[in-house]
Amino acid sequence: MKKRNETKAEVVLTGDRTTGKLHLGHYIGSLKNRVQMQHQYESFVMLADVQALTTHFNSPDQLRHHVRQITLDYLAAGIRPEKCTIFIQSLIPEIAELTVFYSMFVTVNTLRHNPTIKSEAKEKGYKDLYYGFLGYPISQAADITFCKATLVPVGEDQLPHIEQTRRIVRRFNQLYKPILTMPRALVGEVPRLVGLDGKAKMSKSLGNAIALDATFAQVQESLKGAVTDPARIRKSSPGYPEICPVFSYHQAFAAESADEIAQGCRFAKLGCVECKERVARRINELLDPMRATRAEYDARPSLVDDILQTGTAKARSVAKRTMQEVRDAMEISYF
Ligand code: TRP
Repeated sequence: MKKRNETKAEVVLTGDRTTGKLHLGHYIGSLKNRVQMQHQYESFVMLADVQALTTHFNSPDQLRHHVRQITLDYLAAGIRPEKCTIFIQSLIPEIAELTVFYSMFVTVNTLRHNPTIKSEAKEKGYKDLYYGFLGYPISQAADITFCKATLVPVGEDQLPHIEQTRRIVRRFNQLYKPILTMPRALVGEVPRLVGLDGKAKMSKSLGNAIALDATFAQVQESLKGAVTDPARIRKSSPGYPEICPVFSYHQAFAAESADEIAQGCRFAKLGCVECKERVARRINELLDPMRATRAEYDARPSLVDDILQTGTAKARSVAKRTMQEVRDAMEISYF
């Protein structure tokens, strides 16, 4: 994690779209940071079911399932409900309200040029952009500002949205009253995990990810099928770890032995099969305690409901307070 000023109080918020369960890319990019930070700072994690609708409006019935699965992912990964407020986005109407207010001073061109919007639109094959989809960075600014978050642990692809949020905060504070706090992004040490197919990003929709709830055997199988340095056909030929996806997993999950692995690969002493087995073992060591915690919560659905309800109520009270300040600043509080 990046160095930070230990004495300064931060408010941490981040979230995930509830379109599918979380995978190792999420863990490395941001979840690991969140778990560490919850002990020091006021922390929120959000189940972004409204943002999920920007691409999944035609299958809202799926969201319920994913809200549950991601909550289990959080708890399994070590998010502790007594340390970190876990809440559901659609149950905080103030977020929708802030989105409307902020959208008055964000131009369509700014949104259209957002690199993440562009690449996601391309991935989805959108020719014309849905209004909600185009505007989701504004709604993300509302997510971040309702609790006056100062730190947002995210994967690298989210940086344009944090930048957009910062512009909204600056503008709002200039236009009305300086009540909003300026957030900063915090990207994980390994900002982006390469997919099992060697594509730039591990992503559920690309089918190249290892889920956080993967079984022991699934992890082994996934690695067996992972793409390696394509030029290395047999063990006796030297490899180039810097272009090998499996090597990047060693760096992410077994950093202390990565140099030794790189040497073994470069000097044709370590074969791909063994290299993959070694990293699969390390990933399984990471996931093992998560499997146990997940099973405990999975067996107690009413406890999980309780955690979500308590977290959402807390987030709501924070949101109400900010909303009142926003209305006062805009001079649209009437009675
Ligand atoms: N856009 C984020 C993603 O796709 C999810 C998200 C929604 C988020 N609201 C947020 C992340 C606020 C950080 C802060 O992963």
